[in-house]
Formats: sequence, structure tokens, C-alpha cells
Amino acid sequence: MCGIVGYIGDKNAQEIIVGGLSKLEYRGYDSAGIAALTANGLTYEKAKGRLAVLEERLKDHPLTGTVGIGHTRWATHGKPSDENSHPHTDEKLQFAVVHNGIIENFLSIKEELISKGYNFTSETDTEVIAHLLADMYDGDLVGTVRRAVAKMRGAYALGIMSSHEPDKLIAVRLASPLIVGVGNGESFIGSDIPAMLEHTRDVHILNEGEMAVLTRDGVELFSAETGEKVERALFHVDWDLVQAEKGGFDSFMLKEISEQPQSVRDTMGARIDSETKQIVMPELKMSNEQLSAYDRIYIVACGTSMHAGLVGKDVIEKLTRVPVEVAVASEFRYRDPIYTDNTLMIVISQSGETADTLAALREAKKSGVTVMAVTNVVGSSVSREADEVIFTWAGPEIAVASTKAYTSQVVALYLFALYFAQVKGTQTAEQVAEIVDHMLDLPEAISEILADSAKIRDFANSIKDVNSLFFIGRSLDYAASLEGSLKLKEISYIHSEAYAAGELKHGTLALIEEGVPVIALATQPDIYEKMVSNIVEVKARGARVLGFAVESDNELIKSVDEVIHIPATLPILTPVLTAIPLQLLAYHASVARGLDVDKPRNLAKSVTVE
Ligand code: F6R
Repeated sequence: MCGIVGYIGDKNAQEIIVGGLSKLEYRGYDSAGIAALTANGLTYEKAKGRLAVLEERLKDHPLTGTVGIGHTRWATHGKPSDENSHPHTDEKLQFAVVHNGIIENFLSIKEELISKGYNFTSETDTEVIAHLLADMYDGDLVGTVRRAVAKMRGAYALGIMSSHEPDKLIAVRLASPLIVGVGNGESFIGSDIPAMLEHTRDVHILNEGEMAVLTRDGVELFSAETGEKVERALFHVDWDLVQAEKGGFDSFMLKEISEQPQSVRDTMGARIDSETKQIVMPELKMSNEQLSAYDRIYIVACGTSMHAGLVGKDVIEKLTRVPVEVAVASEFRYRDPIYTDNTLMIVISQSGETADTLAALREAKKSGVTVMAVTNVVGSSVSREADEVIFTWAGPEIAVASTKAYTSQVVALYLFALYFAQVKGTQTAEQVAEIVDHMLDLPEAISEILADSAKIRDFANSIKDVNSLFFIGRSLDYAASLEGSLKLKEISYIHSEAYAAGELKHGTLALIEEGVPVIALATQPDIYEKMVSNIVEVKARGARVLGFAVESDNELIKSVDEVIHIPATLPILTPVLTAIPLQLLAYHASVARGLDVDKPRNLAKSVTVE
């Protein structure tokens, strides 16, 4: 996740681009850079660190020119450094490129370019684009970009400019978001509307596979693949800046819930080889031999991240038969854990700064245990101190209640479980490919759920005055219930408890009486009948039950009051899908009670105290 800005007009490009980048710093903040076209050709300045570091440098070396592109980076390929910062250029400074996303096949393109004598100065996938454009340029920038893009596989949003055609900027989009804006004698590129809102309210939101050619006179849209012109009326933005930062949503939480088709896609990103449908994890430094030797795993985390760990446990055990124990970090750090010679610890933390999780990581490292972090924040303490890191790439999460970070953590754990199984040989290539196929459908399934949320909103409105309710489920549905219950509690302040459905009759069933709401997850086929029996038990005591079932299930409605259907997928993948209506339930209940959805009382986004 990175931020892109571009400007062409008659004002100082540097000023407008730096202003735009400041609105996009939430998309990445490990380095920033800007390139501009001047009478003397293409110049650039870039620096590791926050935008402020770049601004300091620009004070000493200001860029002149009225055409430019800029970038704020969240490192993927290559560590945060001056060299790996964008924009990237070719050696002769003819082309400059800013990029958000991943070019999956950059290594093969890079090898081809190296064999032709091109020299690379960074570890990034983006630099290949600048050299590729230099190699392919035939006097027509638009055609050259189209041919270059046709060679690239992956997900990207690109801003491109060239000293050969200094009165043009090109924007291309595949999978990563990109907006172009039209002003009076000026045009803009931005990853998000706030980047240009100060200057124009007339924008095109690029669709997948579209490219835009920007001049001072306006913007033309094309299909990058066919070159056919796309005619579309401009979209007029009438949000204020605060609304725009929330993407037009009324809260960051709802924006982040809605971003999950993209964030889940970004987590999978280049980790799935699109041809073989096998998992690749180039970020892991450990050898396959070392990985396959692990015979015991501890997953340690707090809150929502721990709930993601519970899903991960089931999946890792199922696919690899390696035992996994999940522990709450605040408990684990004071335990005397039993490590074998081949124990792996996985810590999960969205922020990468949670004090208890960090302490558990340090304790394990002191005992010589290898620690792998699953985290969302590049440069966080957890990411710096762990031996291995799997970034979730969910993008910055601003609402206190974790939503997209959770689903990305779960997907990252699926990827790790599959990779571990591949390396250990506990799943065949065909078995891995089958799961991967279903994983690739998850973003679409999430969009489907998001598009039809009226039922969950109505249910949320109906529980706004209740004092207490229950979530029940078995196996993976139990893990999902724990997360649904936590989400509801933290932002709606309604007391709720999640129960392993079979455990209710050992005490808690006494609390079920006429009208008590129960949310019952019944998506796991191996335990379905037992789950229905538990539902019948609460129903018989007067509970009002909202059931969660898979799409094809027409039976559950006979035992519950209402059903939320989840698109069909493999049972191990359903926690990613059930999470969405459960998040929406919490969100709507909070709204119905008139509460501050993004900033619940007593809570903080990053818990850096014990
Ligand atoms: C709940 C929530 C918290 C966090 C927990 C751990 O919505 O966000 O329960 O999951 O505080 O935080 P991280 O993942 O940053 O370590």
C-alpha cells in the first residue's frame, strides 16, 4: 500500500505534489519522493522516512517545473531506504515511475533487462518499469506504456512521465486504486480523492485495466489492453475533506469494512503464483529444511489478533498435523512455556507495538526460539525484532475496532499454513491449488456480502436496547463467534458472550430466557447437525436466533428466526466471510445507539502499556 500523486498544469508541481502526499501519508510512511520535469530534463529528490524528511531536503534542493509525480511508500520489495524510494527512473533520466502494488513477474523482466545491459540501483519491482519503458520506447509514450503494461503481471497503479513527451502524464490502473482529477488548465493523479480535493472536485475513478492520459487541457481515458477510448462523465465530489478522508463513508470503521475485498486481495498479492496456484513466500529467510523441522507452534497475540490466531491454529493443524497452541500474550509472558528444540513462535499484531505481544516475543527470543511476526505495520517494533515477518498489507487501519486487519491476518495465516504444508509435503500440489482457487474467490464473495447488508442492519437495530446476548458456534465457527462478540462489545457496549455451542448446557444455558438474542454460526459441515441440536436447545428456552449458514443451506431456517447466508467456499475459509456481517452487526448496533464508532470509550488503537 503506497500513495501516488501527479500534477500537470502551470503551477509549481513540487508544492502541489507535497500537499497531495501529505493527505496520503496514511497509505505509507517509510519513504517519500518526488520527480519533476524542468527545462533541463527530469530531476528528483527522495528520502527514507516520513514526508517531513523529504520536505527538509527539498528546502535545500527545490525542484522547479510544472509537471511532476510523487510517492509515499509502504515497503514491499526492498527495505525502506533512499534507493528503494520512488520515483524510479531509467539511467538516462528519460522516464520516471511511481507505483502502488506488486509486479509479480518483475524478476524475469529484470533478468531480461540486465542481459541487455541495464543497470539497477534498487531492490524494488518498480525500477524494472522505468528501464522497460526506456527499452521499449518508440516515440509514442502512450503506446509504449500499453506494451510495457501488457508484459507485467500483478497488481498496480502507476504514474508515469517522460522527458520525451513533457506535456503528458500517464496513469494506469490494475487492481490498486487510482483517481485522476480535472481542473482549470491542470490535471491531477492521486491514489485517493483527498490528494487533489484542494484543487479540483471533478474526478474519474479509474476502473480495472484503464489508463488515463493527462495534459493541461484535460484527461482522456482508454482501455490499457485494447487502446479503445473510454467515454465517462466526470464524477463531482461534494464531500468535505474529512468525509473524503473517510472515502465518503461516515466512519473509518465502515470504510475499512468496505475495503476488505481489496485488503484481502493485497494480502494474497504476490504470494500466490497465479500459474501454478502454489504459495511463494520470498520474505521468509529460513530454509525449507528449517521450516519443515518445526514440530510445535505457539501463536501469541491479544484481542482480535488472538482470534485470528485461533483460526490459524485449526488450519495449520489440519494442513500440516503440527500441534499449535494459541495463547493470550498477557498470560503467556508470565508462563513457563515448554519449548522443544524445534518450536516456532508466531506473534500476531496489527500495530506491531502491543506491549504484551512484544514482551512475549522478547521472552521467546531470549530462550532461543525463532519468532515469526504477522503484522500490518512496516517498521513496527514487532517487525523489527522478530526473526521472520509476514506483512499483512491490509493498509493503515484507523478505527480502533480492527476489521480489515483481522481478515488479512487470517488470510496471511492461511498462506503460511499452505506454504508450511507444501514444504513439509503434507498436502499435494493439487490440494494446495484447490484451496488457493477458493481463496482467490474470497474478495468477490466479500463484495457480495457487502452489497446486501440490509438484513444485518435490521437485526442490529432490533438489538440496540438489549442488555446482553450470546454468540455460539463450534470449531472454526466458535473462533469466529469470539471475534463477533468482541467487536459488538467494544463499539456498541452491549454485553455479549461467545460460547462453544456444546458447552452452553454446562452452565450458561441458565441465562437463556424468552427473547434473549443468540447469534448462531452453523457453517461447518462436519459439526453441522450437532450445532443445529444446540440451536434447538436455546430456541426451546425462548431465544431469538439469528443463524449464519452457507448459501446452499435451506434447512437452518427451520430451526432459527432469521438466516444470514454466506457465499459458498471451503469450510476452512468461512471465518473470513462470516467476519464481514459480524463486523457490520457491531457497526450498525453502535450507530443505532448513537455511539462514536471509530473511538469507543476506554480503548486505544495501539496498547503499548502492560
Ligand atoms: C479489537 C482490537 C484489539 C486488538 C488488540 C491487539 O477490535 O483491535 O483487540 O486486536 O489490542 O492489537 P494488535 O493487533 O495491534 O497487537
